[in-house]
Amino acid sequence: MTDHPLKTPANARSTPLVIRERVWWLLPLVLWAAAVGLSLTLQVDKIREQSTLVAVEGARNMFRMVMLTRNWNASHGGVYVPVTPETQPNPYLDHPRRDLKTSDGVAMTMVNPAYMTRLIAGMAVSDGGVVFRLTSLKPIRPANLADAWESRSLEAFERGATETVGTESSPQGELLRYMAPLKVQESCMSCHARQGYKVGDIRGGLSVSQRLAPIEAATRAGVRQTVLAHAAAFVLVLGLGWALLEILRRRWLELAEKIGELEEAHGQLLQSEKMASIGVLAAGVAHEINNPVGFVSSNMGALKDYSKTMVALLDACRAGKATEADFVAADFDYLKTDISDLIRESRDGLERVSKIVADLKDFSRLDQAEWQEADLNAGIECTLNVVRNEIKYKAEVVREYDAELPRVPCLPAQINQVVMNLLVNAAHAIDERGIITVRSGHDAGWAWIEVADTGRGMSPEVKKRIFDPFYTTKPAGKGTGLGLSISYDIVSKHGGHIDVTSEPGRGTTFRLWLPLKGAGPVAS
Ligand code: HEC
Repeated sequence: MTDHPLKTPANARSTPLVIRERVWWLLPLVLWAAAVGLSLTLQVDKIREQSTLVAVEGARNMFRMVMLTRNWNASHGGVYVPVTPETQPNPYLDHPRRDLKTSDGVAMTMVNPAYMTRLIAGMAVSDGGVVFRLTSLKPIRPANLADAWESRSLEAFERGATETVGTESSPQGELLRYMAPLKVQESCMSCHARQGYKVGDIRGGLSVSQRLAPIEAATRAGVRQTVLAHAAAFVLVLGLGWALLEILRRRWLELAEKIGELEEAHGQLLQSEKMASIGVLAAGVAHEINNPVGFVSSNMGALKDYSKTMVALLDACRAGKATEADFVAADFDYLKTDISDLIRESRDGLERVSKIVADLKDFSRLDQAEWQEADLNAGIECTLNVVRNEIKYKAEVVREYDAELPRVPCLPAQINQVVMNLLVNAAHAIDERGIITVRSGHDAGWAWIEVADTGRGMSPEVKKRIFDPFYTTKPAGKGTGLGLSISYDIVSKHGGHIDVTSEPGRGTTFRLWLPLKGAGPVAS
């Protein structure tokens, strides 16, 4: 029966340590914290990187704008603007037509690109934040001399760098610095040719500085948000996870307890089933013993009467008063034969009693509750004797034993219990009178015992469930429904199995298989 539903494994009660001991939950907690921490650092780094990138992009745009205006100016070889207190003639511009007068007498002065840049830069500083200026390592205007950071950048440009980015602390706070080179073009030559500039040379650069504080403020806001989001996710998942584990734990423990209770109940039922089968046995055995004991004791009564009559006759003989008539009156001839009959009969009866007791002892063999190579045929025979009373009014027993059956390693008392179960069930399955055939046999590695009855048989639905614990077709109170379930367990423990074939109205055949090379006790 391979489709037999599995019994609850005995180890189901042992709750996993991870569930039982909450300390273990710290492990996923630590993992989760690590994951959240890692994500947070990555995110924060990204935010920092991103805001620097945005700031640098701003500086680049500033550079492009300044370059555009400068190129526009340079393409005109400088432009003229009216002289104002803010826009005075550039003392460094050495140009023949630096200062002009319009036809109506307004003073005009030429503004070269560098000067224009300086003027716009002045406006930008007053506008807030961004500072940019044109520098060179060898300036015309001394104030245009590059500072330390700018010098390093200019040297880098000469080595081929296209831009430099960096931070630097200053009296106004941390600064983000950006610088890109200025290439000498044809249009520059009109004023710078004297310095030995050549087209394509890098002779200076435009540096853009902005305060880091506003950028950092924006970054901080982003970081704060990310931290909050991470903390929320951490706490939420932690809470949910913990609650879920707590529920799981409680369920598990409850279940374990239930299973424990069930196992206990199961144990009790097994015990009561054992008691019930002992009851059946006891009733049968009592009946078997009662009968001979009954007639032995009535024989004793008769023998007592006979001895009284004999003693009287012997007394009369001794006194010499006994006559033939006395012997006839005492029915002496009959007495002679009946006494020996009664004694033989009583001895037979007592032998029967001692045979029953011996069978019973053989059957249980409780003193040998260990594995041994047993003769199955002998076991069947003694079991048949023990349950004879249950069967004899119901069925003829036909024996078809395999004379060559090898000995089988088993717990004989338990196998006897299974056979008894099958025999009693077979007897119960027979309504009027029938035949119970008990066979034994063996083939490749297996020995088998078969109990076939000509009883009612079973429907396929019933057949499917007969090995389930507590399943019974007997009226309530007449059987625990554990007999076959226990038999199944016993045979499984021996490494064997039980087959059933049944046909309603024609009878049922159980065949139990036991491995010849006994597996020894199989853990169940
Ligand atoms: C109209 C004349 C004129 C033209 C055209 C001109 N510059 Fe200048 N440039 C000057 C003068 C004068 C200075 C120095 C003083 C100042 O105005 O800051 C200067 C300063 C500079 C500086 C700053 C370092 C220093 O020497 O003080 C750089 C760099 C520079 N010019 C590059 C260029 C490039 C590149 C071009 C072509 C795109 C160019 N200039 C076109 C006149 C000119």
